[in-house]
Amino acid sequence: MSQKLLYTGKAKSLYTTENDDQLLCVFRNDTSAFDGERIEQLERKGMVNNHFNAFIMQKLQQAGVPNHFVKLESDTASIVKRLKMIPVECVVRNYAAGSICRRLGIESGLKLEPPTFEFFLKNDALHDPMINESHIMTFKWATPEDVALMKQQAFAVNKVLIELFQQAGLILVDYKLEFGRHGHGLMLGDEFTPDGCRIWDAETKKVLDKDRFRKNMGDVVEAYEEVALRLGIHLPQVSSPA
Ligand code: C5P
Repeated sequence: MSQKLLYTGKAKSLYTTENDDQLLCVFRNDTSAFDGERIEQLERKGMVNNHFNAFIMQKLQQAGVPNHFVKLESDTASIVKRLKMIPVECVVRNYAAGSICRRLGIESGLKLEPPTFEFFLKNDALHDPMINESHIMTFKWATPEDVALMKQQAFAVNKVLIELFQQAGLILVDYKLEFGRHGHGLMLGDEFTPDGCRIWDAETKKVLDKDRFRKNMGDVVEAYEEVALRLGIHLPQVSSPA
C-alpha cells in the first residue's frame, strides 16, 4: 500500500492510503501534557487507545452519531474517513474538573446540571484559549450551521456515553471532541480515548484517565486498560515477563 505521512499530531499520525477518501490513523505511545511541553512514551498506550477509540466510535455509529471511523487496520492503527478539520475543540462537562475549576473557582467533583459546553481554539502556541461562537463567526473558523451541529452532536455523544460508562460503574466527567467536514456535511473526527476525556470510578472516584499522567500519579496505561476491560473492550493479551 503506498502510504505517505500526511500529518503528525501529539499522539497520532495520519497517512494517506490508496483510497483518496480514507486515511490510516496510527495511535502512538507518545503521551503529552501542557500543550506538548511534556512528552513521554508509555508502552502499550497506542494499542489501548486504538482499540478504545474503535469501540467508542462504533458504539456512537450504532446510536446514530456519524463519525470518521471505518475499521481497525491493526492493533495500533485504524482506517478513518478523510476530514477537513475545524480548528476548534468542543468540551462537554458533566462534573467539574480541570480548567473549569481554575477559571471559575468551582470545586472539583461538582455535578454540572445541565452539563456545560465550551469551545476552545486548537492552538498550542496560544495554549488553546477558550473562545465563543462570536469569535468562531468573526474569524470564520466555522459557520453558524457547523456550530449548531457540533453542539447537537456533542450532546448526542453525551447521551450515549454517559450510559455506557455508567453501566461499567464509571463516571464520564468530561471530554473533548473535534469535528471535520466530509463532503457537504460535518462529522465527529479525531479520537475518543482516555487521553481526551476524564473518567472516574463511580464508587471510589479513582482517576482513570490522562490526569494520572498530568499529575504524575503513575499506572497511566494500567488505568486505561482497566476502563477498557470494564467497558468490555477486547485488548490483545499482555505478554508475560520472561
Ligand atoms: O483542561 P480541561 O479541563 O479544559 O479539559 C477538559 C477535557 O478536555 C478533559 O477531558 C481533557 O482531557 C480534554 N482536553 C483534551 N485536549 C485539549 C484540552 C482538553 O483532550 N487540548
